[in-house]
Amino acid sequence: MISNGADHLVPQKPQDSGPHATSGSEALSPAPWSAALERDPGMPASTWRLRSDAWEYLRFAVKRLALGSDAVEVLASDSEIHRSLRALETIEMYWAGFGQRYVRDIGDLLEAGDYRTALDRIGRVVHRLRGDTVPDEPRDEHLEEQERTELSADPDPRPRFEVLVIDETTAADRDTMRADGLRLRAPADAFIYEFVVVPSADDAVAAVLTNPNILACVVRPGFSDHTHQPLSRDLRESIHLARAQVAEGSASARSSLASVQRVLGLADTLAAIRPELDLYLMAGAHIEDLAGALTRRFRRVFWREDQLELHLSLLRRVSHLYDTPFFTAIQGHARRPVGVFHALPVARGGSVVSSKWIRDLVDFYGLNLLLAETSATSGGLDSLLAPTGTIKKAQDLAARAFGAKHTFFVTNGTSTANKIVHQALVAPDDVVMVDRNCHKSHHHAVMLTGARPAYLEAYPLNDFAFYGAVPLDRIKQMLLDYRAAGRLDEVRMVTLTNCTFDGIVYDPERVMAECLAIKPDLVFLWDEAWFAFAAFHPVTRRRTAMAAAKNLEQRLKTPAHAAAHHAQQERLHDADGNPAADAVWLEERLIPSPDARIRVYATHSTHKTLTALRQGSMIHVYDQEWRREAEEPFHEAYMTHTSTSPNYQILSSLDIGRRQVELEGFELVQRQLDLAASLAQAIARHPLLRRTFRVLTAHDLIPADHRGVGRPMPLRHGLATMWKAWAQDEFVVDPSRITIEISRTGVDGDTFKHEHLMDRYGIQVNKTSGNTVLFMTNIGTSRSAIAYLIEVLVKLAERFEDEQSQRHPEDRLPLEAPMPPLPDFSAFSPGYATDDVLPDGDMRTAFFHGQQRKNIEHVLPEELRARVAAGEQPVSAGFVTPYPPGFPVLVPGQVITSGVLDFMAVLSTREIHGYDPRRGYRIFTETRS
Ligand SMILES: Cc1ncc(COP(=O)(O)O)c(C=O)c1O
Repeated sequence: MISNGADHLVPQKPQDSGPHATSGSEALSPAPWSAALERDPGMPASTWRLRSDAWEYLRFAVKRLALGSDAVEVLASDSEIHRSLRALETIEMYWAGFGQRYVRDIGDLLEAGDYRTALDRIGRVVHRLRGDTVPDEPRDEHLEEQERTELSADPDPRPRFEVLVIDETTAADRDTMRADGLRLRAPADAFIYEFVVVPSADDAVAAVLTNPNILACVVRPGFSDHTHQPLSRDLRESIHLARAQVAEGSASARSSLASVQRVLGLADTLAAIRPELDLYLMAGAHIEDLAGALTRRFRRVFWREDQLELHLSLLRRVSHLYDTPFFTAIQGHARRPVGVFHALPVARGGSVVSSKWIRDLVDFYGLNLLLAETSATSGGLDSLLAPTGTIKKAQDLAARAFGAKHTFFVTNGTSTANKIVHQALVAPDDVVMVDRNCHKSHHHAVMLTGARPAYLEAYPLNDFAFYGAVPLDRIKQMLLDYRAAGRLDEVRMVTLTNCTFDGIVYDPERVMAECLAIKPDLVFLWDEAWFAFAAFHPVTRRRTAMAAAKNLEQRLKTPAHAAAHHAQQERLHDADGNPAADAVWLEERLIPSPDARIRVYATHSTHKTLTALRQGSMIHVYDQEWRREAEEPFHEAYMTHTSTSPNYQILSSLDIGRRQVELEGFELVQRQLDLAASLAQAIARHPLLRRTFRVLTAHDLIPADHRGVGRPMPLRHGLATMWKAWAQDEFVVDPSRITIEISRTGVDGDTFKHEHLMDRYGIQVNKTSGNTVLFMTNIGTSRSAIAYLIEVLVKLAERFEDEQSQRHPEDRLPLEAPMPPLPDFSAFSPGYATDDVLPDGDMRTAFFHGQQRKNIEHVLPEELRARVAAGEQPVSAGFVTPYPPGFPVLVPGQVITSGVLDFMAVLSTREIHGYDPRRGYRIFTETRS
């Protein structure tokens, strides 16, 4: 039901009050809201917005009643009000604060014709959800004490969270529980929590899927299985998918006791949806039996009456999530009087505050920046190069947050993180299978290590002049080719970009499983520069490298997996043990041996999608051979590339960014996806925008063979639809990115980006192609920002339409497809190719030959074209990387073909690294043989 939110997003009223927000809920048209409620009377999938939207709509409708608008309208709104009250009654069940009783009371007030009091009550919720200060509560005898406290302006600045209790309870039980919770609150507590109580496992899943404030769950064995709430189909299906996924996956969750089995099943489901949730079990009569069987799943098992222990545990656990060891150490350092007899004149503001000329540095950034600057590693600050204290602890916490076994902070971006991983894992002459379309840091890393790259081709998207991802059958085929040539043992690592810049997402679990079935000791490096956020949403998480590694590890341990593997091996081999034809291996979904090793690395540009200062990146490790094989080489590689003066501000931002995602990552990612879906929807629905721009969907960005038959934009149809696509399809599109096709504007992507979006309206976008523009949302994107973007797109569309209408019909664009397709990687020249069968080559030797002046010449494109036509095979002496597409079109040692020259000839990009337009291509004077 995310779509519901989009209809009214722009023209009517964004909720937050940013600089571009339009104002006044009075301007709100009721139609979309009522439609939303009509289609989805139970519960929307993204309650982040629909909870507040539903309250806003209720306020609008009741206001009309209170003002005594015309009778027909009033009648219509009367039934809308009933529907929305019904919906809210369900929604509120999953949130602390107002609760179902509050909604029912409003219903009673309306029934009694007391519209003004009802309006006042509704207004208080709306203000609370908007984060406004709630006006003083007028005296109202109906209100109970607790509700009164909830509604009064909340002066308590302490962070709040919610605790889900799953148990069949009576209203009196719930009141006692809440009262106990209030009684236990102490002024010294760092946080405040409130209970959300639901009766069944279904409701528990619904609550954790929709309410991101829940940080802990207390399971009491009295819960029932199914919900009695009138939930939307989407939510019902999502609950089913969440529960089924655990039923399939966790063969370890078996117990002969049915009661234990239910509790285990629920605990596993909740943990699979939100691993950051803290789980407690509260039991009565059979606590000892349960404790023995269940402690692995729960942080603690409590005797039912032990409220105080529970209270203390809840607060303690959140304080662990809140803890930021390095950030805290930096603050401590900044506050401490110290004398600097060390490097770094800016430390303590030394060279700046006493300066006559550069004090504006402090004025602008604030003194804390300099107070926190130090080159010391003592006094609680730790050393990034040999961490044993606060940095080590901060990295361990990050590993927990991202589901890794080990995490390492990197202060020079993922460009460096990738080089560290390559250097740690591969040796000269190892073959590394690299997506040719990947970031240049991989190409450079391969060159530095002396490994031999075997380039994998991503599928091209010729209509839009960019590239997708590498289909799994190509990866498998390449491995099979190495096997056929007797060189499989040389293949060491596969590295792929997940997700790609344009948002194409692999299924890493499937890719790794099938590759490991061919070579069981392969190492994987997943470049997740753009995907750090994905670890914090239950649907996107499954396609992160770390989650995939963990799932695969668990899967490989199950007897069912071993049986399936053995059965498949029989099909894949003849009686003499010879492998069947490649076609059979390509057709089957390969099942790896239970003995395959899980060796997975992921690099994150944390700064690109989460809170971290620029260049703040992380390396996450899930490697079963870590201790035995990888740890020491990894540290050597880390030392090679890490500055001896790492930036402490970057490190502390990584630490606090981790705190944020553990405590509110789900909320932020959910909101981000929802906002992006709203943007896409608004463009697709608005008549003028629709005529001018086209939002590219999975059907445009993924060839039919590589996706299911599903919806073009699954999230638009709800969480369950997205869940299914993300569980099944070979590739999916990251819904937080919106690529629009702009050929009907008559301007190209670069002009659109610079002259229109940036210069006219101050809107920054990152990537364009000739006829597309990519809008990325992130966890900081606000509803007003989306509203502003749509407002700007409308203005631009009007302008483009006007300009087009003034052109002579023959001059009217659309633009042609903007670039010819880039030909596949030609080949390494015979002097650098390993053999004439397989694609890898010795790029490092070629690179260093190319660095010597005596070996190279510069040749202008026309002459080079003539040489190629005459049958020569010129060889590139360096990397040539145009932006876009942003990856090397030529690498050292690669044969330059006419296809490459054609491609380069029509590039209109401003930036081409490694190519000097005055002197031409850098090629070898002599071709080695
Ligand atoms: C896929 C990919 N990997 C790595 C990088 C490099 O990341 P960083 O900018 O953090 O060095 C980028 C940068 O855009 C990228 O797109």
